[in-house]
Amino acid sequence: MNYRHGYHAGNFADVLKHTALGELLRLLTAKDKKLFVLDTHAGAGGYDLGGEQARRTAEAETGIVRLAAAPRAGMPAPVAHYLAAVAAYDRKFGSSGGAWRHYPGSPRFVRAALRPGDRFVACELHADEALALKREFAGDRAVEVRQADGYKTLKALLPPPERRGLMLIDPPFEAADEFERVLRALRQGVRRFATGCYAVWYPIKDAQGEAFARAMAAFRPLTLQLALPANDTGKLSACALAVVNPPWRFEEAMREALPWIAQNLGSGVTARVHAPPASAPVPASPA
Ligand SMILES: C[S@@+](CC[C@H](N)C(=O)[O-])C[C@H]1O[C@@H](n2cnc3c(N)ncnc32)[C@H](O)[C@@H]1O
Repeated sequence: MNYRHGYHAGNFADVLKHTALGELLRLLTAKDKKLFVLDTHAGAGGYDLGGEQARRTAEAETGIVRLAAAPRAGMPAPVAHYLAAVAAYDRKFGSSGGAWRHYPGSPRFVRAALRPGDRFVACELHADEALALKREFAGDRAVEVRQADGYKTLKALLPPPERRGLMLIDPPFEAADEFERVLRALRQGVRRFATGCYAVWYPIKDAQGEAFARAMAAFRPLTLQLALPANDTGKLSACALAVVNPPWRFEEAMREALPWIAQNLGSGVTARVHAPPASAPVPASPA
């Protein structure tokens, strides 16, 4: 396990994932019913954009840094909420204006949305990242941090007693069988908890990613894609978030937010939203 999210924090993929995550949480917490949230691959919880890892790749420059400079007029609400969440996190460190230095990881977006009575489990397998995550939420009883395998935890905790849940599955995709593991976990999850909302992030870079997208179609997700202009640096330039059982109005919000994000991330950036065909039969048990 070599992956460290600190090298990628705040990049275009995080912009897509965290804007959508914030909107999912906003919609799912609008109902006066308890929510369970599981972040299977949580990372360190927060990142220093001025630190060595982030500076080495400068990926935030084509992500959050660009978006932060975008005009506020006409900004879709999910993007405004996302930027407000980043700004609020940065302020925790005593920053007072200027460029944001501290970028929140997915558990921070979840934590900011939790209401009393909601439940949140954040899993991270890597020892150093798990320690950082524990420190990030030290003394915060609303967040249960587990140094554990996110896939096994997903299987163990579903269905949740709350009967309403959001599961974020955001692996590093460095292992050859990661796509297969995600599909297996999703099948197990849906079998145990068919009405849960599952958000799965994945890279689009080769035939394996395309085959994965085809396999994912069995779950009839709403798929959000964001792509930077193709580059020959070997860096990831396209990714997707597939959302199974999205809440009402999520698609509408993302259809407005995504093109705006693409436009403001720079020329040549493209966004797409794929909804499952309305007439397709819902499979009884995704294969
Ligand atoms: C893409 S990063 C997570 C980023 C985070 N979700 C965010 O948006 O801020 C993936 C993380 O998964 C961790 N990881 C790898 N395999 C894991 C597993 N089987 N279970 C839990 N965590 C794992 C890695 O150490 C890494 O920190």
